[in-house]
Amino acid sequence: MEYKKQKLLFICLGNICRSPAAEAVMKKMVADAGREDEFFIDSAGIGDWHVGQLPDSRMRQRGARRGYTLDSHARQICADDFSRFDKLLVMDNDNYRIVTSKAPTEEARAKVEMLTDYLKDHKNVSVVPDPYYGGTADFDYALDLIEDACSNLLNA
Ligand code: 4NP
Repeated sequence: MEYKKQKLLFICLGNICRSPAAEAVMKKMVADAGREDEFFIDSAGIGDWHVGQLPDSRMRQRGARRGYTLDSHARQICADDFSRFDKLLVMDNDNYRIVTSKAPTEEARAKVEMLTDYLKDHKNVSVVPDPYYGGTADFDYALDLIEDACSNLLNA
């Protein structure tokens, strides 16, 4: 059977902490569900500071403890992303404001969603906070939110 793949792009500021973690979590959940044929999953950053780099070593370590392999290389969002992807999932309000401001059409703008819209176990949480200047607990909390949201995104 032919599927039209659901194309998901996770976006954060640097593409080295939150969005590559979401990419890895979603890829593993999709693989574990045997549904790899149905999805194309990628991540990107708003800024270009870390382009080409592997994810932050702290996020790689905390993710590895949960069985996730964070091995993508950072890239910056580009205009084509609005046409290539079905959903552009951002982490916080600054991300949302900046990414929607780059959308070329209303249709493209409507593809931008907060990842936290998919949370079920974390009530009243509206952003995935940037853990970059934080400690281990902040990376683990970001992963908790990402896992909660991605599991519901998979079933959505
Ligand atoms: P991310 O975290 O947006 O989750 O990848 C950040 C990583 C780096 C920077 C900011 C946020 N930075 O300013 O370099």
